[in-house]
Amino acid sequence: MSASVDVAKHVLVIGQGGREHALVRALRQSATVQAVHALPGSDGIALDAKCHNIDWKNFDAVLGVIRESSIDLVVIGPEIPLEAGLSDFLRANNVQVVAPSREAARLESSKIFSKEFMVEAGVPTARHFVVSTVAETLKAAKNFAPPFVLKADGLAAGKGVFICKSEADLEKAARDLFESKILGSAGSSALLEEFSPGYEISYLVLTNGSDSRPLILAQDHKRLLDNDEGPNTGGMGVVAPIEIDAALRARIDSDVVERSVRHLQKRGFMFRGVLFIGLMITPEGPSVLEYNTRFGDPETQVILPLLDGDWAVVFSELAAGRLIDLKWKPLSAACVVLAAKGYPDTPVKGAAMTLPGEASASRYLLHAGSARSATGHRSTDWQTNGGRVLNAVGIGASLREAIDAAYEIANEVKSDALVLRSDIGRRQLEG
Ligand code: AMP
Ligand code: GLY
Repeated sequence: MSASVDVAKHVLVIGQGGREHALVRALRQSATVQAVHALPGSDGIALDAKCHNIDWKNFDAVLGVIRESSIDLVVIGPEIPLEAGLSDFLRANNVQVVAPSREAARLESSKIFSKEFMVEAGVPTARHFVVSTVAETLKAAKNFAPPFVLKADGLAAGKGVFICKSEADLEKAARDLFESKILGSAGSSALLEEFSPGYEISYLVLTNGSDSRPLILAQDHKRLLDNDEGPNTGGMGVVAPIEIDAALRARIDSDVVERSVRHLQKRGFMFRGVLFIGLMITPEGPSVLEYNTRFGDPETQVILPLLDGDWAVVFSELAAGRLIDLKWKPLSAACVVLAAKGYPDTPVKGAAMTLPGEASASRYLLHAGSARSATGHRSTDWQTNGGRVLNAVGIGASLREAIDAAYEIANEVKSDALVLRSDIGRRQLEG
């Protein structure tokens, strides 16, 4: 057996949302970590970490913080720094990083690249055509029945997928992308793919580019409103672990996870991080909707607290290219997202909220898009400062307990500027 690495003592989390607050919180609970830093972090994250108000796009300034604060491990939360090459820059400067290379991150940052990878790897995924004009889109659509799925190639913060009920809707979406250029260069080419009916699961694995370890399965709720109605969002709430049939699990492991990781290795990608596989479970079996090359938001908020172990140890090993076996607590977790009114299009900023003063290990708030109040002076005075504002997290012996705990703390937040779904986890409870 190879010797294990030194566990990090000074860790830096890049990002500023609820996922990053969850990472900070998990790392603070490590037995070896002495200091947790965030860049840029937020007012809420500053409750748990030392925040550096620096733009990550300034790579040299990031490296400056790393050197000054003796950072020995960096965890990158969001996808945009990966696409910009931050992980490669840090590795080239001998910094230990949990993240894929920019090249590997194309599995998320280009839907066309990603689809080609899936096809080469032989993983099940919806049939597709690459299109870049309205005429090509309408011609390709002749191969499919509605609804049509049109996906902008580039990163679009969750706004790049159009599910179109009719040819007329599809034509409008294609015009928006290719002629009005509503997503700029991210929408200059796109995938038209076959619609897959079913239910969705988020399957995240840690990978070192040649092998993987599964994280517990989670189920996100992507639509804004109860009963999966309303517009698509970044995610309105999540529960874990999800129980699925053993035969289905075995099929996902062999046909999706193993094939994906084997192909990562074949392509020789530098990947020491999280491969997040968005799956549709269709009547015919699992179908990959997308890869993300980072932790999910809000999946991370329910996965991290259930590890029976120390995330600093897991991440330190991973950054060195090694995977350790993960054990999980026999508990469940739920996260209810409190979003600002107007989300996802025009969330209200600067609206007042009063937060509960008390939290506990089994019911607490994470900060996503919040800021300290500009007018109130109590420690409980905050304001909205983004789309997804707060994450109410509950942990319990059963999923029911976890969900109840999450809603209890969510309901203690006083504000008339927030919206939340009331049915997070209901599908799981009802089996
Ligand atoms: P993606 O970013 O590719 O995961 O797509 C965003 C959301 O659109 C997914 O979470 C699904 O709800 C939906 N979606 C994407 N692709 C398909 C498809 N081929 N069939 C049905 N729904 C899809
Ligand atoms: N919750 C979905 C995502 O992080 O992309």
